[in-house]
Amino acid sequence: MYIARTLQELRTHLAQHRHPAFVPTMGNLHEGHLALVRRAKPLGDVTVASIFVNRLQFLPHEDFDSYPRTFADDCARLEAAGCDLVFAPAEQELYPLPQTYKVHPPGALADMLEGEFRPGFFTGVCTVVLKLFACVQPSAAVFGKKDYQQLMVIRGMVQQFALPIEIVAGETQRAADGLALSSRNGYLSAAQRDEAVQLPLALQHMARQVSEGMEIARAEAQAMAALQARGWQPDYMTVRRRSDLQAPQAGDSRVALGAARLGTTRLIDNLEF
Ligand code: PAF
Repeated sequence: MYIARTLQELRTHLAQHRHPAFVPTMGNLHEGHLALVRRAKPLGDVTVASIFVNRLQFLPHEDFDSYPRTFADDCARLEAAGCDLVFAPAEQELYPLPQTYKVHPPGALADMLEGEFRPGFFTGVCTVVLKLFACVQPSAAVFGKKDYQQLMVIRGMVQQFALPIEIVAGETQRAADGLALSSRNGYLSAAQRDEAVQLPLALQHMARQVSEGMEIARAEAQAMAALQARGWQPDYMTVRRRSDLQAPQAGDSRVALGAARLGTTRLIDNLEF
């Protein structure tokens, strides 16, 4: 597996390939990321992963500085998963100048849910993803469904800028108890890790109640209250339609989405139903 630290190294190495399949990451990789790499493998003639902790998508009080940097371990895992090339630029390489040109996704999709509680998050994500796409020039890129809204925002960007890239969704990988795998699970204490499964359980319960006919607003309020009663600080527990994350109408396919803080760790998850 080749490790490119600079854009020049990346381009030189990719020159012999026509169809890169790409998995962007921020490192601290777990089985969820590796499943995305395995999903990417048949989509191109070279499998590329990036490791770059993108300052632009963190708010000042968030965990940019403490975000775990586990490069050697990440590379060993990527190689074992069949990755051919890792692009791991220094911040100075990807942002040699202050990044004053940015991608602002539409507020109707990007200013709610994650965007409401993490203002500017999707601008940071879109800006770095567009830049990584320009560097790697992939034919296909794989994003996890765990970041459901992110996947939709990226799909919209690719469509509206007519980027010739197939965006492929990777299924959420879960621990045996049902907790979605996430780099931030590593922040949880043993007791919090036991408690963390309550987030997917609350989503399942909310989805079941709505399927059985409960009014959506009532099911959402109950899910928020149930988590609060267990010591969580939920940002949102909500049921939306899958196509645009707006309130569902009768007959729409739905997704339950949740974000909640357990201690200082913020977890997100979702469930299509
Ligand atoms: O999902 C992530 O890990 C990040 O948001 C991404 C897509 C790598 C952009 O920094």
